[in-house]
Amino acid sequence: MDAQTHENVVAALHGEAFAYARYRLFANAARKRGDDRLASMFDGIASAELDEHFAELADLAGIVGTDVDNIRAALQDEDEEVESRYPEFAEQARSAGEVAVAERFEEIVEDEREHEKTLEQALERLVVPA
Ligand SMILES: [Fe+2]
Ligand SMILES: [Fe+2]
Repeated sequence: MDAQTHENVVAALHGEAFAYARYRLFANAARKRGDDRLASMFDGIASAELDEHFAELADLAGIVGTDVDNIRAALQDEDEEVESRYPEFAEQARSAGEVAVAERFEEIVEDEREHEKTLEQALERLVVPA
């Protein structure tokens, strides 16, 4: 795929993923307030963002591969979060006096580390069948 087009597809994927997640939280908030109709509306749009827009763009970008490819891609993402993104974000937040944010980033690192372990076990199971 042409490089600029690919860059735009990746940017669009990020936008669709964010919209999906945000609308799901909006739906949860509406449901909590007792407005099931608004909740269903947000859930419906969220589903379209993920199942149609994200999925169609992901298909064009070829982001889903074999199970082993997918585990390796996920491992790479989780590893980046554990090794650089969240530690750096936590450090920045702490130095800016944003203690609650720093603590949240640090807690997330621990969860991502668990995701990494789970993925490593899955990879072992697939690559070296019992
Ligand atoms: Fe969309
Ligand atoms: Fe994760």
